[in-house]
Amino acid sequence: MLSFINNKAEFCVKDPNKVSYLYFPLANQHGMMSSITPSLNGDAKTGQHEFALLPVSQESLHDSNMGRNVWFTINHATHLASSGNSLSQMITEDKVSMTAGFLYQKISREALNGLYTIKITSFVPVIDENIELHKVVFKNNSDSEIKLRATIATPIYGRSADEIRDHRHVTALLNKIDLYKNGIVNTPTLTFDERGHKENKIQYGVFAVTSPNVEVENYYPVLQEFIGEGGNLISPIAIKENMQTEYKCNDSISGYECMGGMAFKEISLCPHESFAVVFSVAIQKDGKKIDEVANQYTNVKAFDNELKNNKKYWNKALSTLKFKTNDPDYDNWLKWVTIQPILRRIYGCSFLPHHDYGRGGRGWRDLWQDCLALILMNPQNVNEMLYHNFAGVRIDGSNATIIGNEPGEFIADRNNIVRIWMDHAAWSLLTTKLYVDRSGDIDFLFRKQCYWKDQYTHYTKKTDVDWQIDHGHYVKTQNNSEYRGTILEHLLIQNIIPFYNVGEHNISRLEDADWNDGMDMASQRGESVAFYALYADNLNTLSQLCTALYDREIKEIEVNKELQLLLKPINDFDDVKEKHTRLTKYFDSVSSNVSGNIVVLNTKKIATELKVKSDYIKAHIKKQEWLQNGETGWFNGYYDNNGNRVASIDDKKITLTGQVFPIMAGIPNKKHLKMIAKAADKFLYSNDMGGYRLNTDFKEVKMDLGRLFGFAYGHKENGAMFSHMAIMYSYALYKQNLVKQGRKVLNTVFNHCSKFDKCKIFPGIPEYIDIKGRGMYHYLTGSASWYLLTMVVQVYGIQSNLGDVILNPKLTISDFNSNNETSITTLINNKLFTVKYVNTDRKEYGTYKILRIVSGSYNISFNVLQTGVKINRAEIDNIDKAMEEITVFLG
Ligand code: G1P
Repeated sequence: MLSFINNKAEFCVKDPNKVSYLYFPLANQHGMMSSITPSLNGDAKTGQHEFALLPVSQESLHDSNMGRNVWFTINHATHLASSGNSLSQMITEDKVSMTAGFLYQKISREALNGLYTIKITSFVPVIDENIELHKVVFKNNSDSEIKLRATIATPIYGRSADEIRDHRHVTALLNKIDLYKNGIVNTPTLTFDERGHKENKIQYGVFAVTSPNVEVENYYPVLQEFIGEGGNLISPIAIKENMQTEYKCNDSISGYECMGGMAFKEISLCPHESFAVVFSVAIQKDGKKIDEVANQYTNVKAFDNELKNNKKYWNKALSTLKFKTNDPDYDNWLKWVTIQPILRRIYGCSFLPHHDYGRGGRGWRDLWQDCLALILMNPQNVNEMLYHNFAGVRIDGSNATIIGNEPGEFIADRNNIVRIWMDHAAWSLLTTKLYVDRSGDIDFLFRKQCYWKDQYTHYTKKTDVDWQIDHGHYVKTQNNSEYRGTILEHLLIQNIIPFYNVGEHNISRLEDADWNDGMDMASQRGESVAFYALYADNLNTLSQLCTALYDREIKEIEVNKELQLLLKPINDFDDVKEKHTRLTKYFDSVSSNVSGNIVVLNTKKIATELKVKSDYIKAHIKKQEWLQNGETGWFNGYYDNNGNRVASIDDKKITLTGQVFPIMAGIPNKKHLKMIAKAADKFLYSNDMGGYRLNTDFKEVKMDLGRLFGFAYGHKENGAMFSHMAIMYSYALYKQNLVKQGRKVLNTVFNHCSKFDKCKIFPGIPEYIDIKGRGMYHYLTGSASWYLLTMVVQVYGIQSNLGDVILNPKLTISDFNSNNETSITTLINNKLFTVKYVNTDRKEYGTYKILRIVSGSYNISFNVLQTGVKINRAEIDNIDKAMEEITVFLG
């Protein structure tokens, strides 16, 4: 059972040991990334090649005992493990409970029917060091004095995750283990890579002290010796036999798997007294002395201090977005959602137990999703971040795929496979528009940035044989100088190319996949209706942006001469050949460099041209892709590699993705919208899986579409409730004012995630819910950003348009508490406000409008729009800083 214990989203769990596959993130912004389970399993690392503890994925959470542990030996006879993994604790099960908050975990184990208690608190301090800290407090609840010996026993893996199978033993031969007064440090001699071994400078250490302070009596630096012949980590010979060793401080041992093992001198512990061990797992790569850093933090005082700092830090980091709804549990759950985008920035898409793929860094698409939440919660420097991301756009509209940790750092795809995800180019506009709207920073669109250059040209279909890595990753002009185009130009290129890059049905080519990574086997003839619809919407957004520029007296913009070709009117929209000819001409013209010639274009004319193209796509999709049989209807979302339409009404083949983007783009009419919502309810909704599945069961391994059809149905991209798409479905429904339906999606996700016995995860949104209802791939998912975006922009209606604030709430009666109020705390024009909506007459959405907006005694003026009201930026700036509340009266 899981319940929140206060309004700070701290929660407790009874018997967490009875639910498998649970893990909790412990991390800091410096780069320490840990995961921990209730049995202290999990791992700790700073990157793919720097794992202090053995890398874990889902199944290692129960089949490995290589996690953190402190043993307690009582009266030389009973051996209890803080992890719970000892012979005696397997027979007499511990009673376990857990408390957790931002970002710490506390486990309490009552062992041997409550005779002894072991409490373990774990966290990663928010300092510029890579270290995790644990305090393990043993309490003697018996009425007798006991003899107690504590032994820390945490295996240090200390190398790259690549070596888990490849040369696991050989890399142990590189280990050089040094003994310190209170620590054991492994500094492998080399980092192993057959393409070129390198001298290793990274140190991995385990340090421990006790309180009251006792000395280390025996060191166990070698895993094999600690386990002993015939032993194992559940019953190690060193513990069983109180093994004495000759090792002493300053010794070095080489060539073995390392154990962070140290037995402290035995003490006497009176009834009801406690004894504590504070230990750390540290990674040192900054050239500092690992023992100095570790000793500074591995003690009770520093531990307690840092834990306080930790709570303060995370609470502050999350303070810029808060909700006060009708349900305190929902408010608390949403707090865990707000930390998720931050966690993904730290962990990337790898490095938690379910996320056993990738080698760090983030994918292009994920980067832009995470920025959405960043713009909402922490917009300082966000323009720099967005600006740097644009350096990853190629001049053919494709992009570098994996993003490193440094601004503007792009890495090749993890498998060095050249691919086009045809949706990639669409996301940057969504995020940039949100930024420009909320900040009013129109100038951003005119900042100049380079284009990513490597050997790939023509949407990666050709290579530029003349390009060499030492030419630099940027496009040059014919004069050999770096070419830089405006951000607006980047956006135009990204979004207009899919208009031309169409397949035989005049729909954007699927290329190597779209948002759905599993649609990866139809690169020749596959087409994505879903994302063609998003590009249509984007072209419309760009058109509106150009109109707004025109209205603001920015009547002309400069673009590279080559792009002009793509912005020109087209003779026959249905002529796929004409589109290809034009696209090839453009690709050829920019394949190695650009002319460097600039043309000046009229913003109104561009706006018109973009609108015409957008309207065409919408009409085309509406006409060609709408399937209907009687009163049942939905959109086809894809064409497969045989050029066949994928969706079918008769065979009940429907994809959620195929509906989401046409809805977002406003393609279906009201009648069609209702039909889609009905079909989604009938064919995709599953109460046991927390909402709307990604697709129905196609009952075939579609080798002509993608790997997802090889997955068992109901899992991951094949028919799971995939949170990201489900929440984008909600967003799309809200956007078209299907508020009740949109709210249902948000509610079902929350309701399901809060059923701990069913969803089996800690609070937050998992990437997906599997067929049995289990939450999978918790924490690192773009759905968190979209949930927050939907709450802020749609539900609470805090919208903006180029700096002006628009309030357009889509709250339903159920959102208001018994005082008829609901509020959101969020940044508006970089000031933190609590916007409280008051609905005294408890009117339902659609029947209320905004009557009055006040801040203290100040009446905020506004203009009524077709939907919502507009407040000039200056009005917000006028509000006294001390008045942090804006009250909006509905009626
Ligand atoms: C994950 C990936 C995302 C991809 C999606 C569907 O989703 O990170 O890039 O589009 O699977 O294949 P997420 O984990 O963000 O929910």
